Amino acid sequence: MMMARKLVLLSAVTLGGLMGMSPMAQARHRDGAAGPADTRAQDLLSRMTLQDKLSMVFTIDGGGTMGNAPVPPGGLGSAAYLRTPAGLPPLQISDAGLGLRNPSHVRPRGQAVGLPSGLATASTWDPDMARQGGAMIGSEAWRQGFNVLLAGGADLTRDPRGGRNFEYAGEDPLLTGRMVGATIAGIQSQHVISTLKHFAMNDLETSRMTMSADIDNAAMRESDLLGFEIAMETGHPGSVMCSYNRVNDIYACENPYLLTKVLKQDWKYPGFVMSDWGATHSSARSALAGLDQESSGDDADARPYFREILARDVKEGRVPASRVDDMARRIIRSMYDVGLVDHPPVMQPLDVVTDTLASQHDEEEGAVLLKNRANLLPLDPNARIAVIGGHADVGVISGGGSSQVDPIGAPPIGVVKGPGKKDWPGDPVYFPSSPFRMMQAEAPSAHLTYDPGTNITRAVEAARKADVAVVFATQFTYEGMDAANAMTLDDNQDALIAAVARANPRTVVVMETGDPVLMPWLDNVGAVMEAWFPGSGGGTAIARLLFGRVAPSGHLPMTFPASTAQLAHPDIAGVTATNVFEMQFHTDQELVYDEGSEVGYRWFDRTHARPLFPFGYGLTYTTFSNDGLRVRHHGHDVIATFTVRNTGTRAGVDVPQIYVGLPDGGGRRLAGWQRVTLAPGESREVSVRLEPRMLAHFDVKHNRWDVPSGHYRVWLGSSATDDSDQVTVHLGGWTMAP
Ligand code: BGC
Repeated sequence: MMMARKLVLLSAVTLGGLMGMSPMAQARHRDGAAGPADTRAQDLLSRMTLQDKLSMVFTIDGGGTMGNAPVPPGGLGSAAYLRTPAGLPPLQISDAGLGLRNPSHVRPRGQAVGLPSGLATASTWDPDMARQGGAMIGSEAWRQGFNVLLAGGADLTRDPRGGRNFEYAGEDPLLTGRMVGATIAGIQSQHVISTLKHFAMNDLETSRMTMSADIDNAAMRESDLLGFEIAMETGHPGSVMCSYNRVNDIYACENPYLLTKVLKQDWKYPGFVMSDWGATHSSARSALAGLDQESSGDDADARPYFREILARDVKEGRVPASRVDDMARRIIRSMYDVGLVDHPPVMQPLDVVTDTLASQHDEEEGAVLLKNRANLLPLDPNARIAVIGGHADVGVISGGGSSQVDPIGAPPIGVVKGPGKKDWPGDPVYFPSSPFRMMQAEAPSAHLTYDPGTNITRAVEAARKADVAVVFATQFTYEGMDAANAMTLDDNQDALIAAVARANPRTVVVMETGDPVLMPWLDNVGAVMEAWFPGSGGGTAIARLLFGRVAPSGHLPMTFPASTAQLAHPDIAGVTATNVFEMQFHTDQELVYDEGSEVGYRWFDRTHARPLFPFGYGLTYTTFSNDGLRVRHHGHDVIATFTVRNTGTRAGVDVPQIYVGLPDGGGRRLAGWQRVTLAPGESREVSVRLEPRMLAHFDVKHNRWDVPSGHYRVWLGSSATDDSDQVTVHLGGWTMAP
């Protein structure tokens, strides 16, 4: 348990890419052949001693993550630090899931711009937006001296209550892979290495340090691993971070199937694997399984394995020296490949205005309009509007844990003073971007009042006197603990919303949540917008969306269930533990994912359950029709073509989606999509190439993808449950390399 405490405390205070890469570089990544970074790495390696090489594979605490751990000489204050040999630049390693982190406020000028949550970015279905967000984070990191970022979270939402879902990109492997891959590419376009994490199956926080996620290999290849695979091909991360949990009994960071067979052999990954903080449990076993670097091993792990024991393992023949060569080569190769050596960081001030605007635009595209009865939104700029709750007068909430940033313009604890919770992850941090103030600025002729919502009688009074009530609901989710088992809002917020809606049916609910929640009041309110954790420009974005300066265009990256009974696992085992330490180490339990690859909407499809809101769903201020679906195929290229028409009276963005049903059944799968911007009355013909792996099963025996021969159903829809246009196509079947 000592170790448990240590680990949690540690956390507690804790476009390369297909688009930007040269065709040569892309080809190299695809076929695994050597490129210039490999040659340079090999050349340097040949001049290094064994001791030099061993010094590359172990990073130390960067100061700040342990609360009182000193910043090491040469370090800047962050998750980890490595003084490198052979004239290489040091590795300054920082968390940056949604913005550059400043653990324990260790750097006096460590404030940064935070993006909206990963789910908000995923809701844009816009890889360019994800890339820009990544580039923003990368450039802030570079300007503050960092060259390795712990970012790129790609674990699938297998449970809508996951404490870290907000850092990730939802429940679908294709959407996750493309969006997270684009973020990584954006970060690395700034000559900063990004990780892709947490590899793999770290889909829940409950028992994350000990539990075994059990799933058969074919199902894993078709779901969680496929998300990582696509993110890897899209973003070419310099590093992959292995996760805390076990997978089929074996810890992820010493799991030869994950690290060597899948990642390095099948996917030909040329970069290095680093462990999560406290996820290394051995020396030889880990090294042989494919772990290349132990992270913060002096503080995070039970023993500093790769510093104390690995040299002996090599000397005594348990680990071949060639494996240490490979470990060091991979790290150095990524440093050359991403530009750490040729483009070292240059300390300089952040471009706060540009960066905040990038974050605001992300939120404007990522907020999802879930309900809009009788066009209650956009709001009338001359109306009397009662704004209620959610601390909307001062800011927007953010998620807790290692992706937390110290927001610019706020004191270290944010603009809302919490009760002063001492244990992980502390009080929720509000970013100083007030929706209420920005609504005032956006609609100067409106009459706006603010009520904190803490006294329901007073809030009801305010709502009664207004033409429209806008209630802000918040849900704080964070690393280390999953959200309430019952999927409900806390602090009496459901009662508040229900009472306000009874007093004024013209009630709009703006949700700032880390996960989906049940909405018992849904039928009685006029409009609902899911704003997620809205980020540094969140208040402005929300105001502009509410008044129609921009139209919402987000689409859900995860199913919103109507009840927990609909889920593949209605209860999270162990969720009754009340403190975060117990929670993470709950038991050595096995979590059997017997739903296999049928995650999220695929599970709902298979069980014919009707969600509250389906995956892919999102309204806007205009209407669209999609029709004329036809599918042609040539070799492995299967192309869906159709027409999108803006049938409303204002410009807007539609995200038509293509789903497929395989000949042998199973839930439908997203196979492609397109974001389309159209003026009123405008129509456009759109073609979408279907991702071939979405047409396939993974054949473990032959280690290949198998597209079965037969009749495929293809749906064109505005969500995973939209059946309006469908065709059947016959494919002859083929196989593909893993
Ligand atoms: C988290 C990682 C993070 C690391 C360093 C861990 O607890 O799981 O996502 O990058 O800490 O702070």
